[in-house]
Amino acid sequence: MPNPIYVLNGPNLNLLGKREPGIYGGQSLVDIEAGCKERAKELGLSVEFRQTNHEGLLIDWVQEAGEQSAGIVLNPGAYGHTSIALHDAIRAIAPVPVIEVHLSNIHAREPFRHHSMVSSVVEGLICGFGPIGYMLALDALAQRL
Ligand code: DQA
Repeated sequence: MPNPIYVLNGPNLNLLGKREPGIYGGQSLVDIEAGCKERAKELGLSVEFRQTNHEGLLIDWVQEAGEQSAGIVLNPGAYGHTSIALHDAIRAIAPVPVIEVHLSNIHAREPFRHHSMVSSVVEGLICGFGPIGYMLALDALAQRL
C-alpha cells in the first residue's frame, strides 16, 4: 500500500452537522471521516484524517504530509482565503499533490470567499458538492498514484 493520503481540515470544520446545516449539510466530520476511510479502502489506499482550528498546526501537518503522505485532500476552511503561510507550505512540499476541497460553492457565496490563497498551488479544486467532494478528491489522487 502507498503512503497514506492525509485528509486535513481547517478551522470550524469540527462543528459540521451543527454549523449552518443549510450551507454545509447535516453530516458531521466523523461521518465524513468514515466515508473517506471506506472510499480509501475501496481504492486500496489508507487515510490519515485530521482537523485543527490552528493555522500553525495545519502548516505543521502539511509539512509532515510532505514527508509521509502520497497526497493531501485539504479543506482549509477560512484559512484558504487568508493564509499565505498555507500557500507557501503547499509550494514547499511539491511535488506531493494537494487537492483543495470546500463543501460549499465558495464562488456562489460572499465575495470574501471568492479568492483562495491555495488554489494557485494545488493540483485541483473541488467545491460545492458537500461531502462527496472529499470522495472525488480521493478518486482523483488514486488515479495519480
Ligand atoms: C469551507 C468554505 C469556507 O469559506 C469556510 O470558511 C469554511 C468551510 C467549505 O468547506 O465550504 O469554513 O471551506
